[in-house]
Amino acid sequence: KSIVILVSGRGSNMEAIVRAGLAGARISAVISNRADAKGLEFAAAHGIATAVVDHKAFASREEFDAALAGAIDAHRPDLVVLAGFMRVLTDGFVRHYEGRLLNIHPSLLPAFPGLHTHRRALEAGVRVHGATVHFVTPTLDCGPVVIQAVIPVLPDDDEDSLSARVLKHEHRIYPQAVRWFVEERLSISAQGRVLLRDEV
Ligand code: GRF
Repeated sequence: KSIVILVSGRGSNMEAIVRAGLAGARISAVISNRADAKGLEFAAAHGIATAVVDHKAFASREEFDAALAGAIDAHRPDLVVLAGFMRVLTDGFVRHYEGRLLNIHPSLLPAFPGLHTHRRALEAGVRVHGATVHFVTPTLDCGPVVIQAVIPVLPDDDEDSLSARVLKHEHRIYPQAVRWFVEERLSISAQGRVLLRDEV
């Protein structure tokens, strides 16, 4: 299976997926909207093709997304993985990759969609927090849930300590979700829920 990973920054989730060395999966390219994304260095150092599609070079979201899709589709992906990719994607783009576009979000969706999830979790006083891998649908942070990691919020947690603990679990659940996809065990039911087939 050919996998293209999109990053905007650090790329630690992309790194976790690459390091997982998933059987039957090839990371065909890592693509960023920012030339200074740290993750590009790791990818290049691991012999993975990299590309930059700078959103600032385009007049509209539609034009950016069309150029991005062109760069992605050159690698004929079975799966596109958003790993800290910080651009909102157009409906047309999302539909083009329907059923083969995954995202990780640092909260227990549907709680805390959007930005600053750890700060908002602390402000809300929730006792558990975590991360969610989901299929991407046109509504932001709203698609069918594939896997979640739940962690306790500790009395002396701050944004940094909480985000660091969540991130460790992101690095566990994202490779797991990708593995399930590569093994063709993931599908979406008529009700829009994720179905996970048993290992054969
Ligand atoms: C992660 O917390 C991810 O859940 C969120 O952005 C962060 C990206 O981190 N979408 P990295 O670039 O994977 O290190």
